[in-house]
Amino acid sequence: MGFGTLSCQLLLAAATTSAKWIVPGARWRATDGTLVNAHAGGITVDQDTGKFFWFGEYKTQGQEEGGGISVYSSDDLATWEPHGLALEPIEGHPHIAPEDIIQRPKVVYSDGTGQYHMWWHADNSTYGELLQGLAVSDNITGPYTFVDATAPLGNWSQDFGLFVDQKDGRAYSLYSNGDRKEGRDVYITSFNENITALDEVVHRFDKYDLEAPTIVQTDKSYFALMSHKTGYRPNNVVAFRADALSGPWSQPFIIAPLNTRTFNSQSGFNLRINGTKKTTYLYLGDQWDSISLWESRYIWLPLEVDEENKSISLQWYDVYDLDIKTGQVTPINGTTYYSKDATTTGAAYHQEATFASHGTIATGIYGNDSKLTFSGIEGTGKPQWVSFYYQNTDDMGFGDQPGGSPDRIGGSWQLRRIASVVVNNRTEELQTLYQRDTHKGIILSTPLMLDLDEGNENTISIGGLSNGQDVKGADIDRIVVYPPEE
Ligand SMILES: *[C@@H]1O[C@H](CO)[C@@H](O)[C@H](O)[C@H]1NC(C)=O
Ligand SMILES: *[C@@H]1O[C@H](CO)[C@@H](O)[C@H](O)[C@H]1NC(C)=O
Ligand SMILES: *[C@@H]1O[C@H](CO)[C@@H](O)[C@H](O)[C@H]1NC(C)=O
Ligand SMILES: *[C@@H]1O[C@H](CO)[C@@H](O)[C@H](O)[C@H]1NC(C)=O
Ligand SMILES: *[C@@H]1O[C@H](CO)[C@@H](O)[C@H](O)[C@H]1NC(C)=O
Ligand SMILES: *[C@@H]1O[C@H](CO)[C@@H](O)[C@H](O)[C@H]1NC(C)=O
Ligand SMILES: *[C@@H]1O[C@H](CO)[C@@H](O)[C@H](O)[C@H]1NC(C)=O
Ligand SMILES: *[C@@H]1O[C@H](CO)[C@@H](O)[C@H](O)[C@H]1NC(C)=O
Ligand SMILES: *[C@@H]1O[C@H](CO)[C@@H](O)[C@H](O)[C@H]1NC(C)=O
Repeated sequence: MGFGTLSCQLLLAAATTSAKWIVPGARWRATDGTLVNAHAGGITVDQDTGKFFWFGEYKTQGQEEGGGISVYSSDDLATWEPHGLALEPIEGHPHIAPEDIIQRPKVVYSDGTGQYHMWWHADNSTYGELLQGLAVSDNITGPYTFVDATAPLGNWSQDFGLFVDQKDGRAYSLYSNGDRKEGRDVYITSFNENITALDEVVHRFDKYDLEAPTIVQTDKSYFALMSHKTGYRPNNVVAFRADALSGPWSQPFIIAPLNTRTFNSQSGFNLRINGTKKTTYLYLGDQWDSISLWESRYIWLPLEVDEENKSISLQWYDVYDLDIKTGQVTPINGTTYYSKDATTTGAAYHQEATFASHGTIATGIYGNDSKLTFSGIEGTGKPQWVSFYYQNTDDMGFGDQPGGSPDRIGGSWQLRRIASVVVNNRTEELQTLYQRDTHKGIILSTPLMLDLDEGNENTISIGGLSNGQDVKGADIDRIVVYPPEE
């Protein structure tokens, strides 16, 4: 083994086969029922057990920064057990006080010190310091003890990533050097052997002005994924390709279908799953919620690698099974019900739409009175995932407050509408469906777990609840009902 272990040595000998599915963008719950609270995180595989440990930013309502670093463990990447805070903020501390920025943590094992090393973007609340923090622990779940926060080779460091090369075990620090005119680069810099400090710059992505870097290592290539800089609003994540970390690197190219804004997500990490039948590369992205950061979600999707054409792309699945032993991804099939066959009430109506299924989309879904109701839905009597395919045309800039957005001058950073979803008129079990901005003419999906009765007489009714300013829901194209998890 080399110096470090991160996403790479995934032999997974001790891991068990998953019986549960990955549902991108859903409310993911840990084994204790709470929301999985580990944003902009990284996953470390325990060398001895093959267990996955997910470290991320802990955010609560009212405290969206400085909540420390949480840690969860899993055998299958679907079921997550919480282990509390791996790094706790300390009142009055110069770098990890509750008001400080403690972002994008990554944990790596150092053979030299025999400890786990946690690195992150360490900063004060105004992003004026731009440092990299180091904390260590003998135990993967912590508690981690703060060591230092330093400027990488004297430069600035904002969004932080960590990459371990599986060819030699060497660890690298990935970071954008901030938004100043002299910055706007992304660096690949090697760590020293013990992963206690930086060694030398291996490559600088000069003035591309990107952030949230992560490197996918395939048999032949390195793909460096990064996002553009639009704050918590998603954009087109790009990738560069090279034969070696030092380059030469290709031009950046877009990895997801245009105008989906990378299926409403930002890059940050990836996992290579070296299965017995297939090597799967998993993109681990964040779906930020600018209105309540703590409610941000996770978009994990398989990456398709095309070595022949030197390309990589993201595949969308509403619900999929990932067998971490074989490495195989199995999309789950559902039953589709189209809006054209659903009934509208109040001011809701069907509107011609060239980009929608059967040329028709349901719009005007507003408050409790203007609804779209699907009927004749087959259910099993067990909880089932239902994906709602929708269009939200706000273009990330609703209202008249300043803020700016790629698609709307003077937008207010509004990123979603909220619809209400009611099954079989059971309003007491009303669920909220968050519908992030898509783009005009772009349909994306977002899931909810629903309790449908057994038989084919279920109704699913969609109304408007809130978009921060009024009670509008997004336009609905169709819904897909999935079988229950075995
Ligand atoms: C790595 O850390 C160990 C334990 O602290 C120390 O003995 C060793 O000298 C370090 N190696 C290097 C190259 O600094
Ligand atoms: C953050 O650090 C910068 C650089 O030292 C400083 O100018 C700024 O005032 C600090 N912000 C806070 C809130 O302390
Ligand atoms: C390490 O963490 C695990 C899981 O939280 C815990 O069960 C174990 O007791 C810890 N070990 C040490 C040495 O702290
Ligand atoms: C950081 O690096 C950039 C070039 O990438 C350079 O222009 C800038 O001066 C450096 N900043 C510091 C503080 O060293
Ligand atoms: C993947 O795992 C197989 C054994 O299942 C091993 O032979 C192979 O070297 C591994 N490949 C990499 C790149 O780790
Ligand atoms: C590479 O691109 C060509 C042309 O689009 C396509 O026919 C071929 O299937 C691609 N190769 C792979 C491995 O997908
Ligand atoms: C889903 O449907 C496709 C096409 O009919 C089929 O090939 C595949 O086996 C199905 N998958 C599952 C998990 O049933
Ligand atoms: C819509 O109905 C829900 C559930 O009955 C209720 O809580 C809410 O106040 C209603 N909203 C409006 C705008 O009437
Ligand atoms: C649900 O409510 C609607 C409108 O109030 C009514 O027409 C329908 O019969 C109800 N369905 C059931 C299953 O109670």
